Amino acid sequence: MSIYRDLFSLPDGYRYLNCAYLSPLSKRVEQTAVNALVRRRTPSTIGVGDFFDPADSVRSLFTKILGSEDPARIALIPSASYGMAIVARNVEAGSGQKVILVEDQFPSSVYTWKRFCAAQKCDLELVQRPDPDGHVGQTWNEMILTAIDSTTAVIALPHVHWTDGTVFDLESIGREARRVGAKLIVDGTQSVGAYPLDFQAVRPDAVICAGYKWLTGNMGLGVAYLGECFDDGVPLEENWIGRANSRNFSSLVQYVDEYVDGAARYDVGERGIGLLLPVFVEALSQVSEWGTELIQSHCRTISKPGLDELRNFGAIVPDDDAPSHLFGIRFRQDGIRDRLLSELKARDISVSLRGDAIRVAPYLYNSEDDVSALVDACSAAIRL
Ligand SMILES: Cc1ncc(COP(=O)(O)O)c(C=O)c1O
Repeated sequence: MSIYRDLFSLPDGYRYLNCAYLSPLSKRVEQTAVNALVRRRTPSTIGVGDFFDPADSVRSLFTKILGSEDPARIALIPSASYGMAIVARNVEAGSGQKVILVEDQFPSSVYTWKRFCAAQKCDLELVQRPDPDGHVGQTWNEMILTAIDSTTAVIALPHVHWTDGTVFDLESIGREARRVGAKLIVDGTQSVGAYPLDFQAVRPDAVICAGYKWLTGNMGLGVAYLGECFDDGVPLEENWIGRANSRNFSSLVQYVDEYVDGAARYDVGERGIGLLLPVFVEALSQVSEWGTELIQSHCRTISKPGLDELRNFGAIVPDDDAPSHLFGIRFRQDGIRDRLLSELKARDISVSLRGDAIRVAPYLYNSEDDVSALVDACSAAIRL
C-alpha cells in the first residue's frame, strides 16, 4: 500500500492507474470543496476579497509549479481549449506561413489551429509519429526540428504526448523557434505538476494547462502562462473583472477602457469564484508541496518491476528514463490489446486506450500492487 494512499479517499481495492484521465480529489481538496459549498449557504460571507485573493494565490502557486517568475503572467481559464483560443486570437500568421503540431495531438489543440490556419490562410503541418518499435522520441524530435523553418509562425506542442508519454525536447525546439521568429505554445496539461520542465531553458511563449489532471483540481478551472507577446492582446470576453476598476464594486458603471495589469485580462468571466477557485488553490498548494521529483520517483519505483516484466513478455514499453507518471503500452501481435481491455475491465483496473496505446497513468496513491495487477492482466491477455 502506498504511504500516500491515505491522503485520498479511494475505495478499498480500487486500482486507479488513470490520473491522466481525471485526478481524484485528495481529502484536503475535498474538504475545501465541502467547506466552500457550505459557505454558499450564506452569500454575504463571500466578500470582495473572495473575488480577487484566491485568483492571486492561483497565479502565485502556478508560477512556482511552472518555474516561471512573474505571477502577473498567469490567466485563469476554464479549459485548455479556451487557453488555446486566447493564444490563437493573439498571434499572427499569414499566407505562406505554417503552424506545426504533432500527430495524434489532443483535439483541443488540433481544432483550434485548424480553424486558425483556415482563417489566416496558412498551412497546418502535423509531424507524423515514427514507428513505435524504434527510438520514437529521438526520431520524432529530429523530425520536428527539421520541420521548423523560416515559414514557421507557431509551434504548438505538448511536453509529454497525451497518448503514450513521448517527451518532446522543448529546449531545442524553443531555441529553434526563437531562431526563426516562431512562437512556441506548450500544452502542459499532461505534464506540468507531475513532470519537470526547465522553464527558463525552454522559454515558451505560452503554457496552457487544464486543471483536473496533474494539477489535481476540478474540471472547469485551469491556468495559462502568457508571455510578453500577449501583453497588449485582446481577451476572448470583455468581462467586468478584467477591467482596471473592477475592485471597486460601487464604481463599476464608470466604464473604463483599461484592462487590469498582466494576463488577468484574459481570465474567464466569474473564474470559479466561491467554489472552484478556493478548491483549485488547495489543489495547487498540495501539488507545489509534493513537487515533480517525488511524483516521478514514486511512480518510477512502483512501475519499474512491472515494466521490466512486460518488456520480457514482448510488449513495447517506454525506456527507463521516460516519464513515469504517464506511459503507453503497445503489443506487436493483433488481438492482445482488445483482450487486455476486457481483462482490465473484469479486474476493475482503470487505465485508458488512447490512439493505439494502453495509457497507464499512476500517481502517489498507487502502489506496486496496482502495477502488478496490471501485469497479471497483460499476462492473461497474452496467454489467452
Ligand atoms: C494534452 C491534453 N490537453 C488538454 C486536455 C483537455 O482539454 P480541454 O480542457 O480543452 O477539454 C486534455 C484532456 O485529456 C489533454 O490530454
